[in-house]
Amino acid sequence: MKPNLQYFSLLFLLCVEPGIAGPRIDCLPEPSGNQTVCESRGCIWNPVDNDIDGAPWCYFKDGVGYNLASQIGSTYILRKNNGPRNPWGADFENIQLRTSTIGGSVLNVKIGVDGRYEPPVDFPRETISTSETLSFTTASSDDLFWFSVIRNSTNRKIFDTSLGGLIFSDQFLQLSTYLPSENMYGWGENAHQSLKHNFSRYLTWGMLARDQPPNSGNLDTMNLYGVHPFYMCLEPDGNAHGVFIFNSNPQEVTTAPGPSLIYRTIGGNLDIYFFPGPTPALVTQQYLAFIGKPFLPSYWALGYQLSRYGYSGLDEMKQRVGAVRDAGIPLDIAVADIDYMNRYKDFSTNDNWAGFEDYVKQMHGWNMKMIPIFDPAVEADYLPFQRAMSMGAKFIEWDDYSQVQQDIQKLYPMAKDTKIMLGVVWPDHHVGFPDFLDSTGKTQAWWRDELELYHSKLTFDGIWIDMNEPANFGTNELHPWYFDDNDHPNDAPLFCPTNGSNQWDLPLFQTHAVYYYGGNQNNAYLSSKTLCLTGVQNNGSYRFYDVKNLYGLTEAIQTQAALMDVTGKRGAVVSRSTFPSAGRYAGHWLGDNTARWEDLRTSVIGAQEFNLFGIPYVGSDVCGFLGQSNEELCLRWQQMGAFHSFFRNHNTLGEPAQDPAVWPSVASATKTANLFRYQYLPYLFSLHFQASQNGLTVVHFPKTSFCFLQYKCGVIVERRYYDTLMLQFLRCEEIPSSILVAPVLYQGAVTTNLYLPNDVWYSLFDYKYGSQIDAGYIIVPSPTTYRIPVFVRGGSAVPRQTPTTTTTMSRHNPFELLVAPCQMGRAVGVLYWDDGQKIVDSFDTHDFHQFNFNYNSTSSGAQLTISRTRKGTVVLPTMDIIEIFNYPSPPNFRSFTLNGSTVNINVQSSTYSGITKTLYISTKNLIDLTSSDVISLVWSNVLK
Ligand code: NOJ
Repeated sequence: MKPNLQYFSLLFLLCVEPGIAGPRIDCLPEPSGNQTVCESRGCIWNPVDNDIDGAPWCYFKDGVGYNLASQIGSTYILRKNNGPRNPWGADFENIQLRTSTIGGSVLNVKIGVDGRYEPPVDFPRETISTSETLSFTTASSDDLFWFSVIRNSTNRKIFDTSLGGLIFSDQFLQLSTYLPSENMYGWGENAHQSLKHNFSRYLTWGMLARDQPPNSGNLDTMNLYGVHPFYMCLEPDGNAHGVFIFNSNPQEVTTAPGPSLIYRTIGGNLDIYFFPGPTPALVTQQYLAFIGKPFLPSYWALGYQLSRYGYSGLDEMKQRVGAVRDAGIPLDIAVADIDYMNRYKDFSTNDNWAGFEDYVKQMHGWNMKMIPIFDPAVEADYLPFQRAMSMGAKFIEWDDYSQVQQDIQKLYPMAKDTKIMLGVVWPDHHVGFPDFLDSTGKTQAWWRDELELYHSKLTFDGIWIDMNEPANFGTNELHPWYFDDNDHPNDAPLFCPTNGSNQWDLPLFQTHAVYYYGGNQNNAYLSSKTLCLTGVQNNGSYRFYDVKNLYGLTEAIQTQAALMDVTGKRGAVVSRSTFPSAGRYAGHWLGDNTARWEDLRTSVIGAQEFNLFGIPYVGSDVCGFLGQSNEELCLRWQQMGAFHSFFRNHNTLGEPAQDPAVWPSVASATKTANLFRYQYLPYLFSLHFQASQNGLTVVHFPKTSFCFLQYKCGVIVERRYYDTLMLQFLRCEEIPSSILVAPVLYQGAVTTNLYLPNDVWYSLFDYKYGSQIDAGYIIVPSPTTYRIPVFVRGGSAVPRQTPTTTTTMSRHNPFELLVAPCQMGRAVGVLYWDDGQKIVDSFDTHDFHQFNFNYNSTSSGAQLTISRTRKGTVVLPTMDIIEIFNYPSPPNFRSFTLNGSTVNINVQSSTYSGITKTLYISTKNLIDLTSSDVISLVWSNVLK
């Protein structure tokens, strides 16, 4: 029978017990295949055309899986049942399933076989206390074992493998589950067109780190630069949980009707961690306590960055930086792409960049910073490589000498007797890829020393690490693209063992990263655009097949350590390739997007997802990387990007300049947007501080943390679920103050439709600035001359600072406090402050201030209490301005007292508007935040 939609809807209700046909589990994911192949695999062939999009035509029969052989405590021995066997290698006859809890709340279910590969990633594995617990239950029928994970407080099944389909062979592992709702977010790295996954169809997403630009032009399930097997799911009653599968092999996930998930990987174990929440914020905290909390960027790293690939030389960088500065646009960081290098070799400087260090010194004098790019691979014929060899540093190697591609190797005397796998990236000659998993420490020492040596010539402040999937050009291609590129010699490409059979480069199951990619471009391999998976690291103890997805993470770990060591400051590293826990060491940009409106939109989603993945220092290439940008798009992207933590305009080779100074309208909008950003930097920094200290997100989506939990004056009063919003974002959730941003994302838009969750909101943009805006679906004007719609939630006290053109200078300006009271006339907030650059060894010993703000007003007056909850030694500017929205009646400016003593309010600069109900208190040196542990500013209103 041809299934139809009703049939599947019915299944949705019925699919709670096995034995009833559930969603189809693909048995023929390869692009070429037919009924004969399908049936020879023992699978069912049942073509469906247009009923449920993407439904596999060839799918497993029921009963695939294991039965329970024995159980001792929390260890279950599972034995391959009599159901269908998998077509991609021999099923293990016996596997183990072990459960344990971490800190009482996080549940680990590990399905595996002793002695198999485990990813060498050192997570802190900490937990945070919560009373929420999960339990693990098992069941079996008809020769099939399955398990469920249940939230004890509500008895809800949050994971339910009764769908069947458990497969465990050496190089094909599969697990399927029903989900408690369709409200699932996460998995990566992919270009998702909506934050919430779509379960109305079958869709498989690839997860293999690859140098693959996101395609946002249409739905595209390609694997991009990093791998994040993590999702968050909201249950029907509003509880949230998270699931992390700790596996670093090439993998994929299918979202399917049910709603259900089918996860497949081609190595390692199925090591699954369940985080019970029950709020989205707690899920994030639990996940980040486990994998590691994000690093705290230097304060300056929150400044605006100007970058491009393809500066003709230093002069052009100077010219564009100068133009942006001359336009009065706040700018902190000049970024140098590979153009600065001599023939694209790391640790070298191009002749037409002579004087770069003098310019960096000059920029430092302007309180600017400089971030250069470093690629991991180094040419096999120059000094840094020679030093690596003499220090005993390791590179990714072939497994044995017989595999070495001699036509390449023999060209390089230093490498010719080695097994180093040489490839091609930007430099003119072949390159080796440092082995950041080398456990001898020699590679790390060499990498550090090279960075130190180069730093002695060019005093960079942060580091951009690129091409670290790792990317390799032209792998397995007879005529790679660079043969036709004037700037690139015809270096022989790397060829992997892809003829005949090879366990690592041609595993029987190759994942979506090959099948999908291969479906569109012939001859795709796991090694496409990268090295051969047959390679090894750490002297042969790791197979590249297993650890490839960790390359960016391991490079980030060592680069951050080197940067801190060399500069003595915390700086900031941004990495293209990431894996869970990468946020501890680096931020991320969303890769080589295209200058299109679609890409602007997906970058909002990408940044939200990376916050879920624990990498809050994230943003997109503002104005678009590939293709030619244009005035309106660039203007809107600048306006949106000003709300992302990592804020960098970046452009590709050969495209016209797209920095904001190119168009007067963009310059003006960017200046406005950046000044707003710089004004609110103390708030943004405080969010990052909290994210690092407590594992929170910085940018969040309204659907979970916020819409879900309706606050009234900081108290959760209602839980609701909203389905449709995805392109707005909020900062943040744990600091009760929240700013909601509704970026303008459509060409020609002069109004914006948005949803304000049920609460008190005030406008922070040009439309009714300072006024209360009714919650609900609203339409607001958003011409290009306005700041994009931005709102502050009632109940928030938001620290800010008078802005100027660099973060460093802004830091010296007086603090301000924006008070947006809730209906009860209350507001709270927090400020974290440190010197902006010291390395954080531990927040217990780190030198920082923390202040809590507490504002209360009544009809007769108001009180602002500032409590210092952490005393640092950093000198702070005074707080000179307090702007209060919705202030009910005129204050008596003569009644102000500070800790009981009268203060003279400057009545020239202070105002009250009975029309907008805004009170603006402005007095030089009004509050010395360090004068006392508790500071109380009290005043009364003019008596009526
Ligand atoms: C690829 C990166 O994604 C891009 O941002 C950079 O400009 C080029 N490599 C050149 O370094």
